[in-house]
Amino acid sequence: MSKRVEFSVVIPAAGVGARMRADRPKQYLPLHGKTVLEHTLDCFLGHPSLQHLVVSLAVDDPFWPRLPIAADSRVLRAPGGLERADSVLNGLERLRALELPDEHWVLVHDAARPLLHADDLTLLLDTLADDAVGGLLAVPARDTLKQAEQGRVARTLERSRIWQAFTPQMFRLGTLYDALSRALAAGTTVTDEASAIEWLGLAPRLVEGRSDNLKITRPEDLALAAFYLSHKGA
Ligand code: C5P
Repeated sequence: MSKRVEFSVVIPAAGVGARMRADRPKQYLPLHGKTVLEHTLDCFLGHPSLQHLVVSLAVDDPFWPRLPIAADSRVLRAPGGLERADSVLNGLERLRALELPDEHWVLVHDAARPLLHADDLTLLLDTLADDAVGGLLAVPARDTLKQAEQGRVARTLERSRIWQAFTPQMFRLGTLYDALSRALAAGTTVTDEASAIEWLGLAPRLVEGRSDNLKITRPEDLALAAFYLSHKGA
């Protein structure tokens, strides 16, 4: 039973998705009758505790205005940035302009993860509702992982301690804004929100999620996502 934690969502959707080798950014590729991005937004829009949803979009994005969801007044826009972290920071600025308190929970979720399951969203919200730091959905590594140097194995990592970081990642608005803006100003590479929070010296909680919350990255991922979607709820 969900604890009804009120939250807002930031979806960075300003990437070009070069690894897909497609004619458009991966969030606009068709998947099971809609675009990837529309599936992603649907994961949140029906939730009763959602307060605001911000999508960070490339300033010259020609695809967004063509989607019916662009006219949905619940969806706010923010400009995309150079890197994912810049797009997220712009989304957080948009939320701060609404004068939400620093303690307000924000979930950041990749536009390219259209398969977030409602159970995982509930698990994340319930697990972190009273957490002092916040955390993220993640899965323990399945494969043995190697650290590489010039195409050869430099060392084998201790698999039992390795997790793959997924999204949503859930942190307080004030802390996340502070962490991201300070880490970026210091020139740190920030590939997810948790790494910015870690940079502040805090330890985000790992919440074990479903392994099918995949990020569309390579051409073969789209077929797999379509397969999962066709079996969703089955
Ligand atoms: O490229 P990658 O898969 O890591 O991108 C993760 C998410 O960040 C995607 O939803 C992408 O659209 C977004 N992104 C962004 N602004 C950028 C780069 C990526 O919003 N400059």
